[in-house]
Order: sequence, then C-alpha cells, then structure tokens
Amino acid sequence: MAATILITGAAQRVGLYCALALQRAGFQVVATYRRDKPGVAELRAAGVDCQFLDISDDQQLPQDIAKLADYLKHTYGNLRAVIHNASAWQGEEPVAGGLSEQLQSDAAVFDAMMRIHAKTPYLLTRALQPLLHADADRPADVIAISDFAVNTGSCNHMAYAASKAALENLVLSLARLLAPHAKVNAIAPALVMFNDGDDEAYKQHTLQKSLMGIEPGPSEVLAAVDYLLQSRYVTGRVIAVDGGRHLKLP
Ligand SMILES: NC(=O)c1ccc[n+]([C@@H]2O[C@H](COP(=O)([O-])OP(=O)(O)OC[C@H]3O[C@@H](n4cnc5c(N)ncnc54)[C@H](OP(=O)(O)O)[C@@H]3O)[C@@H](O)[C@H]2O)c1
Repeated sequence: MAATILITGAAQRVGLYCALALQRAGFQVVATYRRDKPGVAELRAAGVDCQFLDISDDQQLPQDIAKLADYLKHTYGNLRAVIHNASAWQGEEPVAGGLSEQLQSDAAVFDAMMRIHAKTPYLLTRALQPLLHADADRPADVIAISDFAVNTGSCNHMAYAASKAALENLVLSLARLLAPHAKVNAIAPALVMFNDGDDEAYKQHTLQKSLMGIEPGPSEVLAAVDYLLQSRYVTGRVIAVDGGRHLKLP
C-alpha cells in the first residue's frame, strides 16, 4: 500500500499543486477541501482521496477532526505525513458603527485566523499522533505552512501574522512531543503566488520586497516539502522560502 499523506485545504493553488505532485510521486494523498470547486474534481481524477473539512465552526471543530482521524485510521491505518496548508488571508477591516462593532469584527477575524492556522493544526496533529508512522529507519513528518510575516508582523493582517506565529511555536512543542517517531517543521514562504485580484501596482510593490524579485510559484513550497520528507534529522525548524526578504534592507 502506498504511504499516505494528508494535506489540508488542497482545492486550489499551493495545496492543489502539492497534492497532485505528491500523488504523482507515488503517495496516496488525502486532501481536505471546503468548497467543491474544479480543483476537487482534478484531485479526484488523479486518485486523491478528497475529504470535506470546513474549519469555520469552533464548536464543531473537535468533532469534525475526530471524525477525520477515525476515517484515516480505518481506511489507511497509518500516515507518512500531514501537511497543514489550509489558510485564509483575512485582514482587519474598518466597519461602520461604533467601537463595539469594530471590536466585534476584529474579534471575529482574530478567532478565525487562530482557528485555521493554530487551533486546527494543534488539534489535528494531536488526533493523528497515533497514526504517524513511516518506516523503521525513517520518521513521519508534520509540516506546517507558515508565512514570512511572522518575522515582521503586518499592519493590516495583524491577526493573520499572530496566528502564523502561534503555529510556529506549536511546531516547537510538537517536535519535542513527537520525536523520534515524527519530525515537525514549518515552511515559511514570503510571496509564492499572487491572488487573482491583485493589481499591477501591488504586484510591483510586492516583487520589490525580496532580493530575488520574482513570483516563484508553488514548486518552491513543494521543493521544501520534498526536502523535509527526505530528511531523517531536521526537526523543530522553520524553512524560509522567501527570496531573501530578510536582507532587503533600506
Ligand atoms: N500564496 C502565497 O504567496 C503565500 C505566501 C506566504 C504563505 N503562504 C501560505 O501557503 C499556504 C498556501 O497558500 P495559498 O495561497 O495556496 O492559500 P489559499 O489560496 O488561500 O488556499 C487556502 C485553502 O484553504 C482553504 N480554507 C480557507 N478557509 C477555510 C475554512 N474555513 N475551512 C476549510 N478550508 C478553508 C481554502 O478552501 P476553499 O478552496 O474552499 O476556499 C483553500 O483551498 C497557506 O498556508 C498560506 O498561508 C502563501
């Protein structure tokens, strides 16, 4: 039986690219999705096992994660790797009304960011801990997709940046907890892919933030995933995939 890899939020862009590539490479990929969009059909056609997981309801989340873990246990027995990719790039927005309305909106953004980037990887990794096995001479992998913004914060995506920082801290604890059976690492990209609505001015401004000055595409994230899957020794680390953004000094 092919070794199984779970990847969350894989119906589009980076997740879709990595899920298809890992499936082609001989793994049995299980991909979670929220909206049934063309990417899900593409995954199914490639043989990827697509499982619905909506990470919007705080009350429902523990049950939904337990259900997914149970399904994986009974269908595949064990897991070679889990990739925490699901994400929402939600910023703080000004709202009409008074302070109370603004704070309610900010609180909802903060909760949503923490739920998808920190709480879900936390609960899911704990649920899947008993299933994480590779070979006798090779540990399993937990890979969390973080963001360069952890290093700088962000004026209009404060909660997003804070939630990715929480994720990177969880990587430290989980690496300690799961060794030596599993390695736990983060991959922290800066710009990988622009969004559809990004205008030319935004693109030029963003490209200038890195030393390399390019939009590298999802293959850079896949290359870092491949590296971590091949390593038997790297754990508790954040792999930066950022075009040298940290050195683009004024
Ligand atoms: N793209 C970049 O340049 C970049 C830069 C730095 C870091 N990253 C990180 O790299 C990873 C992949 O980035 P990306 O740009 O490919 O992400 P993306 O296009 O925003 O896709 C994220 C996926 O997460 C799913 N998702 C969002 N909210 C969800 C919810 N409430 N419940 C369940 N699923 C939900 C989405 O599902 P739907 O398909 O239903 O919308 C989507 O498929 C993310 O962790 C991101 O933070 C990306």
